[in-house]
Amino acid sequence: MTRNADELLEIGAKTNSPSYAPAQFLLDHGEGVWLWDSEGTKYLDFVAGIAVNCLGYKHPRIIEVIRRQSERLLHVSNMFYTREQIELMEALTQRCFADRVFLCNSGAEANEGAIKLARRWQYAVAEAPERIEIVTARYSFHGRTYGALSATGQPKYHEGFGPMLPGFLYADYNDLESFRAVVGERTAAVMLEPVQGEGGVRPAAPGFLEGIRALCDEVGALLIFDEVQAGVGRTGSLFAHQGYGVEPDIMCLAKALGGGVPIGATLATERAFHGWTRGSHATTYGGNPLVSAVSREVLAVIEEDDLCGNATRQGEALMDGLRSLAERFDVIKDVRGRGLMVGAEVGEAAGEISLLCREEGLLINTAGGHTLRFVPPLIVNAGHVEMALERVERALTRWSASRAA
Ligand SMILES: Cc1ncc(COP(=O)(O)O)c(C=O)c1O
Repeated sequence: MTRNADELLEIGAKTNSPSYAPAQFLLDHGEGVWLWDSEGTKYLDFVAGIAVNCLGYKHPRIIEVIRRQSERLLHVSNMFYTREQIELMEALTQRCFADRVFLCNSGAEANEGAIKLARRWQYAVAEAPERIEIVTARYSFHGRTYGALSATGQPKYHEGFGPMLPGFLYADYNDLESFRAVVGERTAAVMLEPVQGEGGVRPAAPGFLEGIRALCDEVGALLIFDEVQAGVGRTGSLFAHQGYGVEPDIMCLAKALGGGVPIGATLATERAFHGWTRGSHATTYGGNPLVSAVSREVLAVIEEDDLCGNATRQGEALMDGLRSLAERFDVIKDVRGRGLMVGAEVGEAAGEISLLCREEGLLINTAGGHTLRFVPPLIVNAGHVEMALERVERALTRWSASRAA
């Protein structure tokens, strides 16, 4: 007996974790930048599984690599090497400052690795065991596990889950003086998103990351960039920090790295990895041959199809269009972003407008409660951006009319 969507949604409502509130329809299949629900309604997808599905849906190269790899090996554990894992680690380290990679399964886990790497480096290499503090930014988001949650500079995520881990301090993003006030001789590392995502899509201001790099060097702290959301092409360079010309000691990736399969990575210099020795850290699934093969293919497609260049071009077009809309709809207070990580600040109206966009056939979500977030697949073209803007315009027209009524 095949159950219909309503019956399944009813079961979902009873069995799903109450921490989620998914839309009340079933997504059924996708192709390119389009998604269809089980009733046949078609959506232009500017959520991309929250900045994950960089190649959209049903990409022929991803289908083929999954088919091929699933016929050979899915998983072997880190007791053994596979060609796929080594080739992924090689590809990543050839493309950035990092010399080594710890492969894992999610953004939070990549950040846990970074925090452990930094503290252990101070303990074992710098011989400064008192340096345990991790300084992060207010409105940052680093994940939901305890280390990553403690690093997240937003009290609303901590409420009722205390105590947080000791040794986490917060300063104001894009305010070097605020960081200067808390970074010092007990600092193990500063951890930052080059573009804040969940906190409201806020790019680092010119000079800020350079200033933080100099500050870390001055006091002997490591610099961690959390590129879980901003990395892997989204901001117009393969890694977001490359667009800023500032290198960290440690970088965390996840989301788009797997194009839809779960993978995370903590990357760092040889020097930063000196703190870890055999047994210091591990994870069972990390870098298994299936996800590694897919991730390697994702990187290849991003390069061969110049999706970084596309992210820059389409991101500019999207931001230009949103700025034009801001001239007509004063609910839009600010448009900001980098590449295809774009936000439109609309205050309290964010939830309502994003729902209206969905009714108009455009999937977006909100960040920080006040910002509409646009993180489409990196394969979007000018026509898709135009269509998205038309749908946003219709949603804003309806929202404005409902306010006037
Ligand atoms: C910057 C950043 N770091 C970490 C995370 C956590 O990633 P995950 O949900 O894969 O644990 C997120 C998720 O949104 C993120 O945006």
